[in-house]
Amino acid sequence: MKIVETVKQIREEVARARKEGKKVGFVPTMGYLHEGHASLIQRAKAENEFVVVSIFVNPTQFGVGEDFETYPRDLERDSEIAEQAGANIIFHPTVGEMYPLGYRTYVDVEGITSKLCGASRPGHFRGVTTIVSKLFHMVKADRAYFGQKDAQQVAVIQQMVRDLNMDIEIVPCPIVREADGLAMSSRNTYLNPSERQAALILSQSLFEAQGMIDHGEHDAGKLGFWIKENIQTEPLAKIDYVEIVDAVTLEEIEEIKGDVLIALAVRIGKTRLIDNIRLEV
Ligand code: PAF
Repeated sequence: MKIVETVKQIREEVARARKEGKKVGFVPTMGYLHEGHASLIQRAKAENEFVVVSIFVNPTQFGVGEDFETYPRDLERDSEIAEQAGANIIFHPTVGEMYPLGYRTYVDVEGITSKLCGASRPGHFRGVTTIVSKLFHMVKADRAYFGQKDAQQVAVIQQMVRDLNMDIEIVPCPIVREADGLAMSSRNTYLNPSERQAALILSQSLFEAQGMIDHGEHDAGKLGFWIKENIQTEPLAKIDYVEIVDAVTLEEIEEIKGDVLIALAVRIGKTRLIDNIRLEV
């Protein structure tokens, strides 16, 4: 497996694969890969002959005071995981390669980017859609794979692809969880042992909420209230949001019916974690 750092190199490598008649699958990441990323790469490999993984901690999607500088990075370990999962090439550009001096162009999806995570992370999705569209132009993949843990990110990217007529298929992939239910995330490494235990309140609340829906609770207001109360029983947890929304538009709903997303963002100590479940009711 190769690692390349420039736009010219990744373009040449993908062009060669295409010339050989290979379909190209793309997994954009910020690195510090875990089993969740590995599952995306495996899926990409199962559906395409050539798989590109990008590893780039994108400064434009981090706000002031967020963890851009401290975000975990380990290219050697990432290369092993990516190669084992089936990647053909890693694209690992520098910040200067992606945002050269004088850079001025941004992609901004309106509306759905200002709720949920967008409400407490202004500018975050502008950074995500900008880097993802740049990467799509560079890699020119047939399909791109994203984890459903970042449900809003998936919805925003799907909206961007529709609106800008991008010729790429977005493939959302299921959340991968630790054995005890915690959704896998590179940021889980920030948690100390008691925070790691406290973090289970997210998945536990979602699973219980799912059980309540299965037993006939369809009032989104009541369910949202119950989830908040339940999270507040954990002393280390501080709620950023609990939202029950339409999974495509991210509009708040009153009745749990149709394609529903229950999404949470909760601070455990200093670490902000997100989790969600998506259900067809
Ligand atoms: O989900 C992520 O890791 C990032 O937001 C992405 C899509 C790689 C863009 O930087």
